[in-house]
Amino acid sequence: MVSAIDDAGLLIRDCFIWFYTQNQPKAMGLNHFINRLNEDFESKETLRKELSGWKTPQIKSCFEPIAMAQKKPEGTFLENFRRYQVGLINTNIRVGEEMFPCNILTIEQIEPNIDKCFLIVKPDKSEKGEYNNHKTVKPLSLCEHLIKLVTYSEDSIILDPFCGSGTTLLAAKRLNRRYIGIDINKEYLKIAKKRLGGLDYPNKSIKLRKEQACLF
Ligand SMILES: C[S@@+](CC[C@H](N)C(=O)[O-])C[C@H]1O[C@@H](n2cnc3c(N)ncnc32)[C@H](O)[C@@H]1O
Repeated sequence: MVSAIDDAGLLIRDCFIWFYTQNQPKAMGLNHFINRLNEDFESKETLRKELSGWKTPQIKSCFEPIAMAQKKPEGTFLENFRRYQVGLINTNIRVGEEMFPCNILTIEQIEPNIDKCFLIVKPDKSEKGEYNNHKTVKPLSLCEHLIKLVTYSEDSIILDPFCGSGTTLLAAKRLNRRYIGIDINKEYLKIAKKRLGGLDYPNKSIKLRKEQACLF
């Protein structure tokens, strides 16, 4: 994804690591492959024992990378900011106990020394909505943090072209920012719409591929 962002001409500024301890390991056991071997039962059992605990090469993922990129500034960062009100970060926003905004973020409590530097407190479980069956809903607090970090005023527009159940949009709404959300799955947009308390869609003025739809 970062290569594609770079190819599109944006400047990669950094990569956040959002790390957590709760995630399903993706590595697969070997039973399925062993069962399909054209060998006798005993040799399969021997192999099973020899390779006990060995799995396909997928380490359990305990972080999600978040690419941070921007358009090439026109002139200096300051000149660009004065013209477009974007392109700087707000270092008044703090993480954990007074940490200068940095590129590691945690949402769950892990250990006091880590929490005090990197924790962005997770809001309660009801934030997703009972009806929300999206598989990868992001924490609202994470989205709010990122929006606060890079948007200067309430005139800022947050675009989420893969908005799913609308967490980024909801974060923008809570921060009084304007927002545009796009998703290929209209069912997800219905969920997002519900979470946002009702919006119009599709927005005909935005050019989308025919299978996409948009909330604003
Ligand atoms: C990781 S999920 C976003 C989850 C969202 N942040 C939330 O909290 O609910 C990515 C979304 O991208 C959508 N998507 C995938 N390909 C797309 C495309 N080509 N155009 C628009 N949306 C797409 C999927 O339907 C999915 O809802």
